[in-house]
Amino acid sequence: MKFKLLLWSVAAVWLAACSSNAAQPTPTLTSLEQIGLSVYNLRCAQCHALAPDTVVIGPSLAGIAVRATTRIPGYDAQAYIEESILSPKSYIVEGFPDTMPTNFAKDLTSEEFKGLVAFLLTLK
Ligand code: HEC
Repeated sequence: MKFKLLLWSVAAVWLAACSSNAAQPTPTLTSLEQIGLSVYNLRCAQCHALAPDTVVIGPSLAGIAVRATTRIPGYDAQAYIEESILSPKSYIVEGFPDTMPTNFAKDLTSEEFKGLVAFLLTLK
């Protein structure tokens, strides 16, 4: 009888551990990258997918950390991603309309901006 009770409590602890794991958003991201993911979901996801080759309004950002190095000569991934957010009109991706909002430079806090760039740099 006691043994059965013990088994149940072991099972309960195990289940609780599983469900708390499932509730955590992508544990591999640093806390700065997590901030970036939240900003992304709030401000970018309506136009950009994270799934490859999926166009919403803008291009998919899957693999952007790699593609970014090929866009503007002399720019590394971070420089291109920062420029894309702060000054979207300085490079227009071929085949897309020039409709990315230009208000992010003034609307994002510096922490949100840094987080967003850090998060996008994880998309390899
Ligand atoms: C209203 C729609 C819209 C929103 C919101 C938007 N974008 Fe864009 N974005 C676009 C479009 C359209 C393009 C392609 C045209 C261009 O290059 O400006 C683009 C291009 C980009 C590019 C260049 C991609 C490449 O392959 O070179 C990046 C990076 C980017 N957006 C990041 C973001 C981030 C980060 C946010 C959120 C802070 C965001 N965008 C919000 C529409 C949007």
